[in-house]
Amino acid sequence: MTLAVTSPLALGRHEVWPPVVLAPMAGITNVAFRTLCREQGGGVYVCEMITTRALVERIPKTLKMIAFAPDEDFRSLQLYGVDPDVTAAAVRMVAEEGLADHIDLNFGCPVPKVTRRGGGSALPWRRRLFGRIVRQAVAAAAPAGIPVTVKMRKGIDDDHLTYVEAGLIAQEAGVAAVALHARTAQQRYSGNADWDAIATLKQALDVPVLGNGDIWEAADAMRMVAHTGADGVVVGRGCLGRPWLFADLSAAFAGTPSQALPTLGEVAAIMARHARLLVQALEDERHGCADFRKHVAWYLKGFPVGGDLRRSLAMISSLAELEDLLGKLDPEIPFPPESLGQPRGRINAPGKVSLPYGWLDSRDDDTVPDGAEMDDSGG
Ligand SMILES: Cc1cc2nc3c(=O)[nH]c(=O)nc-3n(C[C@H](O)[C@H](O)[C@H](O)COP(=O)(O)O)c2cc1C
Repeated sequence: MTLAVTSPLALGRHEVWPPVVLAPMAGITNVAFRTLCREQGGGVYVCEMITTRALVERIPKTLKMIAFAPDEDFRSLQLYGVDPDVTAAAVRMVAEEGLADHIDLNFGCPVPKVTRRGGGSALPWRRRLFGRIVRQAVAAAAPAGIPVTVKMRKGIDDDHLTYVEAGLIAQEAGVAAVALHARTAQQRYSGNADWDAIATLKQALDVPVLGNGDIWEAADAMRMVAHTGADGVVVGRGCLGRPWLFADLSAAFAGTPSQALPTLGEVAAIMARHARLLVQALEDERHGCADFRKHVAWYLKGFPVGGDLRRSLAMISSLAELEDLLGKLDPEIPFPPESLGQPRGRINAPGKVSLPYGWLDSRDDDTVPDGAEMDDSGG
């Protein structure tokens, strides 16, 4: 297949090659997982979502979540906000205290507790409020030269699409790029991402457009870029339990496609390392091991590993226990080809989008929605 992207992704004064972004994923893309992914290839590796309110209030848990590794030279932070002033205060804090090199604004979250209050994927519908948030964030980031991007969905549902207008508003506000997860909020993670919508957005904007949704293999990234003309790709669930996907992505963008197919022994070594990095990041062995449990099924997907061993691995509470159980795996087992190209992670059913009363009736009401600022981060 011909290589459709040959130039780096420009984000402000930064040039990113390959034009690949690890999608922010709450509870996943912490410093431990980012470290594993970054070792595999180039790109932007976005941290877990941080709420603007929690950041400006300096909630200790939130301040811990914005930890970056010493060698993370392009520190990418995703912020969630609904209030232009609070968002600007959070961005100012990031800029003045040198907390990150890139800020992504989250307008894609479909979780009912968020949309019910008018946040996340519900917000771009209120286009004036959306514009104010993005403009104020860009203005607050500008003195430090920090590029701001937005990440959004197609809209609330097929009857309330917002992505082209929101993309134009964000561009006008001065964002460095726009990422589109090509589903509506109503779809959640169901069905297929609508890559045609990414192509439509690319046609409409001058700033770089990043395509997101259903990249399970590096070849999918190439297909998406060829299909849409996108300037880069954002990869989420495809790398769950597979940080080496970023090596495949780097190779594909370099024009020398290859596919890492680690044996079970090699996967076990990465699992052990992931758990150790989590323990280090969370400064607590039990906590780190508990956090690692959610990754076990993803790492073992498709491998012939018995139910008892899988269950035990998903209940570990110490690194010694993990090492002991990993030692029971047959290291020679090859990577299961049938698990390639398959969805992993969330694939939940579509659902009605909860919205504040009267939300759809006025697109130009820019009142800050009540109670939509979450005071915790992650989600
Ligand atoms: C567990 C999980 C957590 C997520 N958390 C966030 C988040 O905090 N911020 C965000 O913008 N998107 C979040 N997303 C959405 C992803 O960034 C991405 O847009 C989505 O998974 C579609 O891309 P994919 O098909 O490559 O997975 C999350 C997705 C998953 C599966």
